[in-house]
Amino acid sequence: MSSQVPTPHISAAEGDFAKVVLMPGDPLRARFIAENFLEEPKLVTSVRNVLGYTGTYKGEPISVMASGMGMPSMGIYATELYKFYGVETIIRVGSAGSISPKADLYDIVLAQGACTTSAWQNQYHLPGTYAPIADFDLLQSAVKRAAEMNTKVVVGNILSNDAFYGEDENFVSAWQRMGVLGIEMETAALYMIAADLGKKALGIFAISDNLITGKSLPSKEREVGFGTMMELALSMEK
Ligand code: HPA
Repeated sequence: MSSQVPTPHISAAEGDFAKVVLMPGDPLRARFIAENFLEEPKLVTSVRNVLGYTGTYKGEPISVMASGMGMPSMGIYATELYKFYGVETIIRVGSAGSISPKADLYDIVLAQGACTTSAWQNQYHLPGTYAPIADFDLLQSAVKRAAEMNTKVVVGNILSNDAFYGEDENFVSAWQRMGVLGIEMETAALYMIAADLGKKALGIFAISDNLITGKSLPSKEREVGFGTMMELALSMEK
C-alpha cells in the first residue's frame, strides 16, 4: 500500500486514515462532523476541497471524509480509501428523499440494498444485474443501536439515482411500486466497491424531503434528523 499514497484525489499520508470512515456528501458537512463530533480532529486531505479528517470518538480512531455527489465521485474516493489507505469500513451518512409512506421527514433509513439507474455499474461486466447490499453485521449493529437509543429506523431498499432533476411522478411511482423507500445518489457505488474489494459498507440516511407530499425540511430542522443519524453512526458497533 505504501508506495501508492498519496493518490490522485487524496493527499493524506500512509496511516492518516482510521479503519472506519464516515462519509457525508458535502465537504463542509465533513468539517462540521469533525469539529463537532470528534475529539482532536486533524485535517488529513483537502484535494479539490474534498475535506477529510481523522480524530477519535470515545477514544477510538475514526475518520470523516466527503464523497461528493453521485456515483462517479463516490467511486473515486471510496476506492482510494479502501484500496490505498487500508480503510475497512465506510459508513455513508447522507440525506435522502422519501418515496414511501413508511419513511417521512425526520425518519432514519438504513439502506439494506441500493438499486441504481447509473451506468457506472457497467464497469463490472456482469452477465446479469447485481444487487448491491449493505454489510449484514453493520446493518444489524445499526438496528440494535437504534433500538437502544429508542430511535425509529426504517430498513429496506433505496435508489441511487444519477439524475436529481429527472425524478418526476412516473419515475417515482415506478420505484415506489417495488417498495423502494427513498432516493439518493451514491450508495449503490459504495456497496459495489465494498463487495468487489471485500470491505464493509452501510448507508444511513436522514429523510430531508418527501417526494410524495412535496414537503421538505427547512435547513434548521434538517439538523435534528442529522444529529440523530450522526449519534447512531458514531455509537453503533463497527
Ligand atoms: N433525490 C436525490 N438525492 C437526494 C434527494 C432526492 O430527492 N433528497 C436528498 N438527496
